Amino acid sequence: MSEGAYHHQPVMVHDVVDLFGPVPPGIVVDATVGGGGHAEALLEAHPHLAVVGLDRDLDAVAAAAERLSRFPGRAQVRHARFDGLVTVMSDLGHQVATGALFDLGVSSVQLDRAERGFSHRHPGPLDMRMDASGSGGERTAGEIVNQEPEAELARILAELGEERYASRIARAIVAARPLSTTAELAAVVRDAIPAPARRRGRHPATRSFQALRIAVNEELDILPGALEQAVDLLVPGGRCVALAYHSGEDRIVKSCFRQAATGGCTCPPGLPCGCGAVPSVRLVRLAARRPSAAEVEANPRAASARLRAVEKLAPADAARGAR
Ligand SMILES: C[S@@+](CC[C@H](N)C(=O)[O-])C[C@H]1O[C@@H](n2cnc3c(N)ncnc32)[C@H](O)[C@@H]1O
Repeated sequence: MSEGAYHHQPVMVHDVVDLFGPVPPGIVVDATVGGGGHAEALLEAHPHLAVVGLDRDLDAVAAAAERLSRFPGRAQVRHARFDGLVTVMSDLGHQVATGALFDLGVSSVQLDRAERGFSHRHPGPLDMRMDASGSGGERTAGEIVNQEPEAELARILAELGEERYASRIARAIVAARPLSTTAELAAVVRDAIPAPARRRGRHPATRSFQALRIAVNEELDILPGALEQAVDLLVPGGRCVALAYHSGEDRIVKSCFRQAATGGCTCPPGLPCGCGAVPSVRLVRLAARRPSAAEVEANPRAASARLRAVEKLAPADAARGAR
């Protein structure tokens, strides 16, 4: 697929660009390069930066490589999962980075292409793998829906989709097996939800589709290790920036960043640290930043975004302790 056909509007792009302004010259790992929108904005705004972009989706890799080709010597794109970011960097001869960006979740292109099976809006196969090449070994949504026991389906829908009617939906899915298309699954989910609840807000299958997508791609399992790798790779003054769109994802980002910012300090709040914890970063802001109302109006997919950032401490600052 060419970049021209790859339409994804980067979210909170000005905030992301500003956050990387103060970092030392070097490489930013864009761990979720997608169509290359954030990466392109970073390269345009900051001549002191280069980008190594990763994506587990081959269509995204092709689109980003094409889009970033106008920055010769400053951009490289690789097909990889972000939990392999240290390996990719070291294969390219880099032991450190000045930044890392995680723009989590799916791209608009993945959602909008019916054959990828991500959306209840488009009839397609029950796939939902971000790496449709099969090289990642992930199971398809169809395999999960048709093979998992009812209790496990209910857990996936409740924990990953925060779906109130998880048990009813899981029971209906098991009764309707085998399911092979997004349209069949969307209809089963809709019919399992009580009629008054169906009429409120989003499509009744939205939460279930999100939960299955997260399960298929093991999104929450991969994230903590990848954030740790990214923070370890940073030079002093380097920054790790994460955009999350799902509460579970944001909880992980917040807790990983807090862990790095406190060094795991367990001392009572308000007292000086006596446990010897050594922080490796500082939080750039205490609270997550949200998109403006104008951005959400122009791009409704930005609505749930939460932006968090940390900055790597110099060893002398880190040694001063957690408080
Ligand atoms: C929201 S999009 C990123 C869009 C990008 N920032 C842009 O401006 O075009 C998220 C991308 O992350 C990729 N992705 C999600 N999880 C990943 C993982 N564990 N490893 C690598 N890529 C991942 C998806 O395939 C998707 O292309």
